[in-house]
Amino acid sequence: MVSLAQQLSIEHPLIQAPMAGASTPQMAAAVAEAGGLGSLGVGYAEPQAILEQAAQTRALTGRPFALNLFVLPDEAAPDMAAVARARERLDALMEREGLDARTTLPARWAPRFSDQFAALCEARPAVASFAFDLLTSAQMQELKRCDIRVIGTATTAAEARAWAERGADAVCVQGAEAGGHRGGFLHAGETPLVGLFALIPLAVAACDGVPVIAAGGIMDGAGMLAAEVLGAAASQLGTAFLACPESAAAEAWKRDLLDAEDHRVATIRSFSGRAARGLRNRYVEALEGSADELPVYPVLNALTAPLRRAAAAAGRADLVSEWCGQAAARARPQPAAELVARLMHEYRLARRAVAPH
Ligand SMILES: Cc1cc2nc3c(=O)[nH]c(=O)nc-3n(C[C@H](O)[C@H](O)[C@H](O)COP(=O)(O)O)c2cc1C
Repeated sequence: MVSLAQQLSIEHPLIQAPMAGASTPQMAAAVAEAGGLGSLGVGYAEPQAILEQAAQTRALTGRPFALNLFVLPDEAAPDMAAVARARERLDALMEREGLDARTTLPARWAPRFSDQFAALCEARPAVASFAFDLLTSAQMQELKRCDIRVIGTATTAAEARAWAERGADAVCVQGAEAGGHRGGFLHAGETPLVGLFALIPLAVAACDGVPVIAAGGIMDGAGMLAAEVLGAAASQLGTAFLACPESAAAEAWKRDLLDAEDHRVATIRSFSGRAARGLRNRYVEALEGSADELPVYPVLNALTAPLRRAAAAAGRADLVSEWCGQAAARARPQPAAELVARLMHEYRLARRAVAPH
């Protein structure tokens, strides 16, 4: 039987998670050169930038890498009265915090998904991964025609089954522990937070032979082995790579995640309008209780973007989204290639410790 690593033409069952805003061509290329699958999270990027980032990665490595997009409707049509109320609330918060930044109405709420998808097909990465929704059958066919392998993100067994039935080559299951946005799409009105230990076997049973990739809270080789024992074909690690020098995360963010107490890593809606795991800070606490009244993604994300930029520039990390997984404090700042080698060394040691002969 062909393993997932063979299918994706990689040496190790290790995927560096796409991290929009933090993954870089340097990171993806370093991981690829070290034998893992490097990924670029380009969900916030316009088509031209997607092509540029793919070209930059190709200039650094001849090995396979993944591009990752958020599947969204092309146009957001928010209730403008709700947008106005959100702007008032956010601007008042900035004023109270003494920050000279106010919300503005952007020209677009987000890049158009269909244009991003066309750019991804043009860039022809070996692998494409998707979160926030299923692709259509026509989009799946287009990727197959371009010889691009597809990984879909799921947060429940039902979502995993939906991706497997849609023809994904693998399904990445995102446990509740995972840093960043929740990638799910079924279960309207709920935010499923199924723990990874429960989710892997449930998804394996639901996927009918389609390989399952485990994501969420995995920080070392022993965690990768545990995921494999539960049935995962590979592990996808995000937060572990956030502290690497190749990561575009701000220095304050990298520092804060090493100090993150597990109970302060929470599911947060108030930055982007979509549940995401990160550090509970002053901004999050100020909006606690009213986050559900704010617009949904991508509208709120666009409204808070200038505020987050201004707060970062003013050194106010306590007002910035600092996404990270549940075990953030276990991140080890070191070059991405060294981290891959260390993870694989730990994985082999753990395997030997469990089955010495
Ligand atoms: C800073 C950050 C940004 C992320 N951005 C994306 C993204 O753009 N696309 C995506 O599919 N997943 C994204 N994720 C989620 C990862 O794919 C993965 O589920 C998660 O990192 C696994 O949990 P861990 O961070 O504990 O390793 C992001 C995660 C983090 C920490």
